[in-house]
Amino acid sequence: MEIREDINTTLAGQIKGAISWPGNGFWGPSAVQRAIDAGGNRLCRPLIITDAGAWRAASSVVLAALTTNAIQDWQVFDGVVSNPSLVPVHGALRMARENTCDSIIAVGGGSAIDVAKVVFGCLCSGLEPEELATLQGREWLDAAAAPGDPVLLAIPTTSGTGSESSSAALIQDENGRKRLYRSLRTRPSLVALEPALTLTLPFQPTAQGGFDALLHALGAWINADNNPIGKAMAIQALHMCMHALPLVLDKPGCLAARADMQMGAYLAGVAIGISKVDAVHAMCTPLESVVDMAHAEALAPVFRVVSRYTAQTHAGVYANAARHLNIAGTGDDHRDALSLIGRVEDLARQANISLHLSNLQLTKQQAGQLATQALQSASMPLNPRNLTHEEVSSLYLQMVN
Ligand SMILES: [Fe+2]
Repeated sequence: MEIREDINTTLAGQIKGAISWPGNGFWGPSAVQRAIDAGGNRLCRPLIITDAGAWRAASSVVLAALTTNAIQDWQVFDGVVSNPSLVPVHGALRMARENTCDSIIAVGGGSAIDVAKVVFGCLCSGLEPEELATLQGREWLDAAAAPGDPVLLAIPTTSGTGSESSSAALIQDENGRKRLYRSLRTRPSLVALEPALTLTLPFQPTAQGGFDALLHALGAWINADNNPIGKAMAIQALHMCMHALPLVLDKPGCLAARADMQMGAYLAGVAIGISKVDAVHAMCTPLESVVDMAHAEALAPVFRVVSRYTAQTHAGVYANAARHLNIAGTGDDHRDALSLIGRVEDLARQANISLHLSNLQLTKQQAGQLATQALQSASMPLNPRNLTHEEVSSLYLQMVN
């Protein structure tokens, strides 16, 4: 694929700005400083929730901004791991309570931000992490943010999950199942998108995160939700992700491409917070609960099978995306839809993400159990093609063949 970095780069690395919805977002050079300045005296005693690698990469920038604001009483919890369970949630929450922290700063990828969201929910509500999943916790999570709620500042160091702008947090329960906490109240109220912090991200997390963001954008664009703001965010995110992903893979040191990828992931997070996704993501979460694999490694094979099946009856939604992106425009919906699906699969290959689950064996009964879980996802009814339990089971079986 030809790489051109001179087109469609809407966020050159030196351009900066701010937005006050949703929450307050800052992007570009010095975004961390500007976000911490905006937090003001609501960031007197923050707990920083991070992982060791992200903290090594970002600590100098974060600590310099805190020091400039005369904030000296911070704590650092750097025990987050990928696919986090409740263990780091408990650890960080204990540290926050013991030190009477008044705010949370999440530094890292989706795992750090997801942990921070649940810790934040517990800190504000006074509930324990297990209680947050009960009816009592649901009531708190579903309520509107209160003016006195503490600050949750997200400083992403990867471009992928969009956790910094979405309402979702995924934490594994004691049985290894991924539990989704969805709450607008725990969405970060401050976000700092400083693209320079992603420049040293290695190939694999760059590739896998970028592919995840791309499928968030595509899922929110093609699904049956009709919120015009969600759709506007989704198509812009799709433009940016399709353009920036091959660039950041080919030229990882290109700040403008990193900035576009970061903004694409952020906008995709906003889009899925409004419009949710489609059957691809709905079918991924149960799969990830039974197989130890990265999110993107589950997404790609599911996409290969589910998008083609959906396009059999609803080619128009994919064709529409293909035309918006100038990927195809033959006027034949099915042909244009397949062009788009093919382009996404090309990106998976460039990202070194397999489109096949060759090492997985699934019985009919296991596929049925996965289908039962997938059908509980709020995104499943939004898939353009309505899928029955039998069809979802069959699609799982097709993936492993
Ligand atoms: Fe995702």
